[in-house]
Amino acid sequence: MIDPFGRSISYLRVSVTDRCDLRCVYCMSEDMTFLPKKDLLTLEELDRVCSAFVGLGVKKLRITGGEPLVRKNVMTLFNNLGRHLKTGALEELTLTTNGTQLAQHAQHLKAAGVARINVSLDSLDATRFTSITRWGNHAEVMNGLNAAKDAGLKVKINTVALRGVNDDEFDDLVAWTGSNGFDLVFIETMPMGDIGSDRTDQYLPLSMVRARLGQRWTLSSIPDNTGGPARYMRCAETGGRVGFITPMTHNFCESCNRVRLTCTGQLYMCLGQDDVADLRAPLRKSESDAPLVAAIHEAIGRKPKGHDFVIDRRHNKPAVSRHMSVTGG
Ligand code: 5AD
Ligand code: SF4
Repeated sequence: MIDPFGRSISYLRVSVTDRCDLRCVYCMSEDMTFLPKKDLLTLEELDRVCSAFVGLGVKKLRITGGEPLVRKNVMTLFNNLGRHLKTGALEELTLTTNGTQLAQHAQHLKAAGVARINVSLDSLDATRFTSITRWGNHAEVMNGLNAAKDAGLKVKINTVALRGVNDDEFDDLVAWTGSNGFDLVFIETMPMGDIGSDRTDQYLPLSMVRARLGQRWTLSSIPDNTGGPARYMRCAETGGRVGFITPMTHNFCESCNRVRLTCTGQLYMCLGQDDVADLRAPLRKSESDAPLVAAIHEAIGRKPKGHDFVIDRRHNKPAVSRHMSVTGG
């Protein structure tokens, strides 16, 4: 699959639920309205869409949410998708999770063929963690991370940089991830969805984070071979990798290789645009995958060149109305 700008689409992110057991302040409002369960693709349908994409050349699948591990029987989907790893059609099956249920699932994920996972964690302080997530339990996530380590999963920690909230912890996060053998990636807040408050105050440009880290750590650029938007540095003191995802200050759209499927079968060609293609109707129309494959090709044919996020006092509205939990970042 090649899009109109010559980019090869080899990465599909799949949100299997828009629900989450947490309510991170930058992600959701406290009283979120979730999609009716009847609108969701079944796990069998999700498998069919994913497998169609694999047939069309997708090499990497990431299961996201909301929180993917709150979807009932989601491990069945992992087990089934694992078959594409065995044939070699798929190179990587992975997961982004908040870690609250990782303790129960880490071994199973590894057995299904998952090698690496991303875990969202914005604070090492239990009280602060609870206030950022509105009610999360820090110990649960720590247990989950230990289970992941024991299971032999490679872990990348995603931390959203929040001005005045967790910006005094970045050195600790570098030290802690380094000593646990985890990678660390900082993310800027993106203007996605109404969160019931103003984002301007939370926004912290990562250029400042990087400059401040540079006072304590020896960071040197390493070539980015993940194909993703993160720019990576090696920390000499810990030996660990520290990455920066800067959708607000750095445009990474030129090398974008991904599209995103929601749990209702809507395909978003860009995180920062509203254009969407419905794959559920063609999926349900026929037992053959032909209509689905045609709809996928049509959608890739209109993948836009890029996004244009702005957060400042004059642009106080979300750039896109949907929350990150619809497309899983
Ligand atoms: N801006 C930036 N990051 C966000 N995430 C969720 N919502 C936002 C937002 N508006 C993060 C989560 C998770 C990743 C998938 O995206 O914390 O780490
Ligand atoms: Fe849930 Fe992740 Fe959103 Fe937090 S950022 S509310 S963990 S989906």
